[in-house]
Amino acid sequence: MILSIESSCDDSSIAVTEIATKKLLFHRKISQEAEHAKYGGVVPELASRLHAVDLPRLLEEAKPFLDDLQAVAVTNEPGLSVTLLEGVAMAQSLSIARGLPIIAVNHLKAHIYSLFIEKEATFPMLVLLISGGHTMVLDVKGFDEIEILATTMDDSFGESFDKTAKMMGLGYPGGPIVEKLAEKGDPDRFAMPIPLQHSPKIAFSYSGIKNAVRLLVEKHRPLDEKTKADIAAAFQKAAIAHLLQKTRKIFQQKRPKDFAIVGGASANMAVRKAFADLCAQYDCTLHLADLKYCSDNAAMVGRCAIDAFYLERFADALTIRVSPRSDKIF
Ligand code: KG4
Ligand code: ZN
Repeated sequence: MILSIESSCDDSSIAVTEIATKKLLFHRKISQEAEHAKYGGVVPELASRLHAVDLPRLLEEAKPFLDDLQAVAVTNEPGLSVTLLEGVAMAQSLSIARGLPIIAVNHLKAHIYSLFIEKEATFPMLVLLISGGHTMVLDVKGFDEIEILATTMDDSFGESFDKTAKMMGLGYPGGPIVEKLAEKGDPDRFAMPIPLQHSPKIAFSYSGIKNAVRLLVEKHRPLDEKTKADIAAAFQKAAIAHLLQKTRKIFQQKRPKDFAIVGGASANMAVRKAFADLCAQYDCTLHLADLKYCSDNAAMVGRCAIDAFYLERFADALTIRVSPRSDKIF
């Protein structure tokens, strides 16, 4: 079995996965969303202190499995350095105390493996990763063969939902709140610019939409409920139209047979619907993770670690490092 630890942002999570069968034997997560909500976003130092409280509590629950472990896996990049350190310190201690190898897991790769929990991994696949920190289209040919086809030049898709919610005083995380509000709004009351619409560039940018939301919020202050819903609807429509427009260009070039959406924002139903339509037009199969595995969790870290285990990709307890970015990525 592999015990896996996730602490890259504001979720403390531990899982235990059986290597041979890929069966998830234990999976627990404590989310800190409520604690960060009052600040309108994640406060790294607070997140780190909460991990220091919650991770040991989860490890205590996983105690019945500790004698049967073959490895310990941990997210070490990318993420918030101070929160990654909490998980890595726990993995180092377990590794040294129990003589277990460590598997250092890239968080973005773990999101890809959220598709394969308790399943075989199937490649090649084109993957859209949309989270609080990333907006990427990846050409995934195998565990070690991952090419970034497009990425964001500024804010990420999920982050633009968080900032939209914050500007309207709606709370954190903004994704589910804005999605729900958008359902009630009129997406056509306000014109919202679609980023890079006339640019041949295959890249994403969310700072322009964020600015458009800011201007609307300032103009219509104090915001009534209908205006909030209409802004949310116009924002979400433009945000998804941008994702779709650039991904369509990649579809035209690559003609993928299999396409997946992963990351916290892949839980958005309007995103799922838009890409289901795109895939239908291109005769491509759409793959989605279970809703419970879209946001950060240790189950996906453990599943990714199984493939690393068979490839013998082990890190050393004394030299493993965390990194806020992953410039090489894979
Ligand atoms: O993958 P994740 O849990 O953490 C990171 O790796 O960043 O993603 C969290 C992000 C947040 O920005 C959150 O607002 C966004 O995913 N998100 C959504 C939805 N649910 C979560 N964005 C849009 N619509 C949603 N339903
Ligand atoms: Zn994530």
